[in-house]
Amino acid sequence: MSADAPTPPTPASPDPSTPSSPSRPTEFVRLLRAQRVWDTELPDFAPAAAPADPLPLFERWFAEAVAAGQTEPHTMSLATADAEGLPDVRTVMLHGADQEGWHFASHAGSRKGRHLAARPYAALGFYWPAQGRQIRVRGPVAVAPPEVARADLHARSTGALASALVGRQSEVLDSYEELERASDAAWDRARREPDAPAPSWTVYVLEPDEVEFFQGDARRRHVRLTYRRTDGTWRKDLLWP
Ligand SMILES: Cc1cc2nc3c(=O)[nH]c(=O)nc-3n(C[C@H](O)[C@H](O)[C@H](O)COP(=O)(O)O)c2cc1C
Repeated sequence: MSADAPTPPTPASPDPSTPSSPSRPTEFVRLLRAQRVWDTELPDFAPAAAPADPLPLFERWFAEAVAAGQTEPHTMSLATADAEGLPDVRTVMLHGADQEGWHFASHAGSRKGRHLAARPYAALGFYWPAQGRQIRVRGPVAVAPPEVARADLHARSTGALASALVGRQSEVLDSYEELERASDAAWDRARREPDAPAPSWTVYVLEPDEVEFFQGDARRRHVRLTYRRTDGTWRKDLLWP
């Protein structure tokens, strides 16, 4: 080969980040395919015996999730959309569920807070794999009065108050040291002043117009029971899984 002849391309070494061919799955895909779902003994769910309202069923499934040892059953995905309709999702804690709706709390100035101000509508998702159960809740979201947010915050731990006092949620953070300084000051204040106000801390209440209960089944005959509210009355339907 002459000195100026183009060098033949060397064969590319397999890149573990590229999609695998069906015949040569990557380590990641092998790991992914080895995972199982609905592979344990799961409870039966008889939708015919379900109550007329979704709330008692939610309370019962929540108690059963706790009894089954489900970790953090009080955490849920919260989906919102911005003014253009673009969606986002994150995990938040459930603060209560009653006749008013499903309660959660956050900062009004955060991304989710701005979404909810622009479009006061959201969806919640609970997944409790210990029993193969999923619950979806959707509906309009209202802001609770400020005294409710104050009471909610001050009934919780010093850490929860300190975290709320730090504020600025979802703003760009210049350095982690800045957070450490703000957090130290907030912890000091939360210990000294357990009633310190955190003005942006807001309790939101999602008033459901649809609640769906999903019971996973090893034979994939999952039971989906949906409750839909029209004119204050709940209607129940089964859905194809
Ligand atoms: C287990 C868990 C619980 C959380 N609970 C809350 C909560 O109750 N309220 C909250 O504002 N953020 C909570 N977060 C943080 C949110 O997931 C999210 O990072 C933060 O609220 C900012 O979201 P945003 O930028 O979409 O507003 C929690 C995160 C995890 C992992």
